[in-house]
Amino acid sequence: METLLGVSMLINFLCFSFVNGQNFNVLNFGAKGDGQTDDSKAFVQAWNASCSGEGDMKTLLIPAGKTFLLQPIELKGPCKSSSIKVQLDGIITAPSNIETWSNPKSEMWIGFSTVSGLMVAGSGKINGRGSSFWEQQLKASQRPTALHIINCNNLRINGITSIDSPRNHISIKSCNTVAISNINLFAPEKSPNTDGIDISDSTNINIFDSTIQTGDDCIEIGSGTVNINITKINCGPGHGISVGSLGADGTSSVVSDVQVTNCTFTQTVNGARIKTFPGGQGYARNISFENITLINTRNSIIIDQQYIDTGKPINKDSAVAISNIRYVGFSGITSNDDAIMLKCSEITHCKDIVMDGINVTTEAGGKPKVDCEYVDGESNDPDLMRDCFKNNTTGF
Ligand SMILES: *[C@@H]1O[C@H](CO)[C@@H](O)[C@H](O)[C@H]1NC(C)=O
Ligand SMILES: *[C@@H]1O[C@H](CO)[C@@H](O)[C@H](O)[C@H]1NC(C)=O
Ligand SMILES: *[C@@H]1O[C@H](CO)[C@@H](O)[C@H](O)[C@H]1NC(C)=O
Ligand SMILES: *[C@@H]1O[C@H](CO)[C@@H](O)[C@H](O)[C@H]1NC(C)=O
Ligand SMILES: *[C@@H]1O[C@H](CO)[C@@H](O)[C@H](O)[C@H]1NC(C)=O
Ligand SMILES: *[C@@H]1O[C@H](CO)[C@@H](O)[C@H](O)[C@H]1NC(C)=O
Ligand SMILES: *[C@@H]1O[C@H](CO)[C@@H](O)[C@H](O)[C@H]1NC(C)=O
Ligand SMILES: *[C@@H]1O[C@H](CO)[C@@H](O)[C@H](O)[C@H]1NC(C)=O
Repeated sequence: METLLGVSMLINFLCFSFVNGQNFNVLNFGAKGDGQTDDSKAFVQAWNASCSGEGDMKTLLIPAGKTFLLQPIELKGPCKSSSIKVQLDGIITAPSNIETWSNPKSEMWIGFSTVSGLMVAGSGKINGRGSSFWEQQLKASQRPTALHIINCNNLRINGITSIDSPRNHISIKSCNTVAISNINLFAPEKSPNTDGIDISDSTNINIFDSTIQTGDDCIEIGSGTVNINITKINCGPGHGISVGSLGADGTSSVVSDVQVTNCTFTQTVNGARIKTFPGGQGYARNISFENITLINTRNSIIIDQQYIDTGKPINKDSAVAISNIRYVGFSGITSNDDAIMLKCSEITHCKDIVMDGINVTTEAGGKPKVDCEYVDGESNDPDLMRDCFKNNTTGF
């Protein structure tokens, strides 16, 4: 009976592979999908098979209706085919708590590296079950990121949901040409360092039509990010969409050509934020936040060039230069009277800051307070920005 079953499974597998040519279902590599058995080895084997096969458009299939338990795994390329799709329709779950992780200090839970043409798509879900990590108050660096993607050009992520990551939901590093759309990222408002999407050292990125409700930045645009467009993101709870932190420990950081449009911040701690460490070098420039809706946002617009990690010495000899930043078309309610804070560096000043169509009111219906240091710019609302751009009379 067992042999028969084995043979029929083998035939099934062969037919399946033959007919579809390019499909690799994790169930055919021994995955149980019962939510209890460790399916890591089956996933790595299925990945290896799809990665090493000849021909184009391989699909690694994670079927619906099953829950796969995975320990930290790394799915590595380069692969033979020019593209690989990971069709995620089922649920992937992490070990139930920190004690049952094989390596709880791993930087990542599910990692992809050096795969070009990678697409992760489907209606499935990954559940990082991070609460036991959050309770132990570990440093961020001692907790894994749920989906960690490095060195992957032509990357697409679509449709999936990530919940309760121990740290960031998705980290993207050293990738060129990235599209992320229709995804959902959820973690409790008070969960530490659960950024939605972190990007660094990457170029040509589009992120759109997604919902991010989490405990830290919805999207963090880190050092080395150039040409990123973000549109139609529902962010909140969370810490808003942030450029930075840039220039930590005196390093040089560069971010440019960032467009954030048609986004909504709902009950976020920050809205549009740029933060840099004193003592850093490099620049953040050509950044715009346009058509932004605020629903009880705390710090709606914030530049902080005096961002520091508590306990570290403050170096005031240099600063990441900030210029050509546009805030256009903000409307809604701030839950904090100090809605706009531009705290720039005395060394570089923030230059060419534009504030147009800022229609933000306090909960009581009044105008918000604006707090500035060392900012040069202009606004079509000279009254609102009077104390900010007082060194520049051109706009008045
Ligand atoms: C998968 O491939 C990698 C690299 O080729 C190899 O080191 C690893 O042993 C393979 N794992 C399995 C489970 O086949
Ligand atoms: C972002 O939009 C601008 C036009 O507004 C365009 O020039 C640029 O190529 C876009 N970037 C990406 C990555 O699509
Ligand atoms: C600013 O960035 C946009 C893309 O967001 C790009 O189209 C434009 O050319 C950049 N402008 C400058 C002056 O670099
Ligand atoms: C933002 O929304 C406006 C109004 O719906 C639309 O005209 C514009 O094209 C949108 N911008 C982007 C970048 O999608
Ligand atoms: C902002 O909204 C206005 C009005 O809907 C629209 O004309 C404009 O194109 C939008 N800006 C961007 C950058 O999408
Ligand atoms: C400003 O926003 C309020 C609601 O928050 C709205 O009633 C008003 O029309 C807006 N004004 C402009 C000039 O957009
Ligand atoms: C205006 O310029 C003076 C002298 O350079 C400087 O001390 C002050 O901080 C500037 N104010 C603003 C708002 O940038
Ligand atoms: C004043 O604003 C104009 C228009 O944005 C800008 O070109 C100029 O550099 C600003 N001047 C100062 C001193 O910041």
